[in-house]
Amino acid sequence: MDLRLEDSEALPVAADINARYPWIQVILLSEQEDYTLLKRAMQAGVRELMLKPWRASELISRVKELAELYRRTLKKPGNAGILNQDSPSINKQQQAAKASRVITIFGNKGGIGKSVIAANLAVAAATRYKNQVALLDLDLQFGDISLMMNINPRKTIAELMLESGELTADLLEEYFYERSGVKVLSAPPKPELAELVNPYGVEALLKVCRQMFTYVFIDTPTFLDETTLTALERSDLILLLISLDIPTIKNIKKGIDILEPMNLLPRTRLILNRSSALSVGLEAKDVEQVLGMKIAAGIPNDFKISVSAINRGISFVDMNPKAAISKSMLELFQLIEKERND
Ligand SMILES: Nc1ncnc2c1ncn2[C@@H]1O[C@H](COP(=O)(O)OP(=O)(O)OP(=O)(O)O)[C@@H](O)[C@H]1O
Ligand SMILES: [Mg+2]
Repeated sequence: MDLRLEDSEALPVAADINARYPWIQVILLSEQEDYTLLKRAMQAGVRELMLKPWRASELISRVKELAELYRRTLKKPGNAGILNQDSPSINKQQQAAKASRVITIFGNKGGIGKSVIAANLAVAAATRYKNQVALLDLDLQFGDISLMMNINPRKTIAELMLESGELTADLLEEYFYERSGVKVLSAPPKPELAELVNPYGVEALLKVCRQMFTYVFIDTPTFLDETTLTALERSDLILLLISLDIPTIKNIKKGIDILEPMNLLPRTRLILNRSSALSVGLEAKDVEQVLGMKIAAGIPNDFKISVSAINRGISFVDMNPKAAISKSMLELFQLIEKERND
């Protein structure tokens, strides 16, 4: 910022920048240097005062020095939240993050099949990516992924949130339970423990998961709370489940109206569950028109297989891989895989 003597605007603007965008470093260019000016500049958060006349090369080297200084302060413990773009290790992490896909299964209608599809899709993915697939149960109050995958977890996402210190892959490993090549992070056993999980924790969790896994599947509750919104925002792909009945379509329309202003629709795919079930009066094409989106895939209706798999605590993809419902999960995964490679 250039400070001319008659111009009293510079320092308040510098103070404003400092308050609103603390990561921006302000250098003040001045014709004079006096103690009062220096003091006022410091109070306004100015990092450096440069006296005129100066050469461009001088200015550039000061900018670089300040940037380096700022980077070093970021590396101190407790300042880890902001990415240091130039660090080679972060570059590696970013590459890994690019290759991994976070996929949230959502549908703001109870019992629409979110958990069954999240679990089976993860198992389908693990047929190709064994132990490189995570399944996170973010239905924090009433999550039933552990039940479906026959896990009796000692450690859940609630205890994970109580961990002090940095969240690392090594630490996270202790929280996962492996089933069919899928690493499962369970929801808390009691609804009141859900409060321990917050959006920041979920964000940190997803960051580390991206470094650890090729695919991360997330099961969600029926409602849109802060943690669910964070998961949706941080996802590469959102699978929005629908079925052909009016109450569901009405709810899903409301869900879409929330996702739209958040700019999440381009990465949302409509998945029609129970596509083979008899629909009374509602056709897929009518629903596409009402929702303004195309249906990307369908999952046939098979109550018998789906319920008996749940009751046995295994996925139907494992229990009966040849069934049409299991094949549809493998096909859906192929679609997802194709999008990842595109
Ligand atoms: N394609 C399908 N064919 C037959 N039954 C299905 C199908 N998909 C899901 N179901 C059944 O619907 C019931 C609800 O499924 P699920 O628990 O996955 O729904 P949800 O959306 O996770 O529900 P909640 O909102 O309670 O978490 C289960 O009994 C499941 O077996
Ligand atoms: Mg569920």
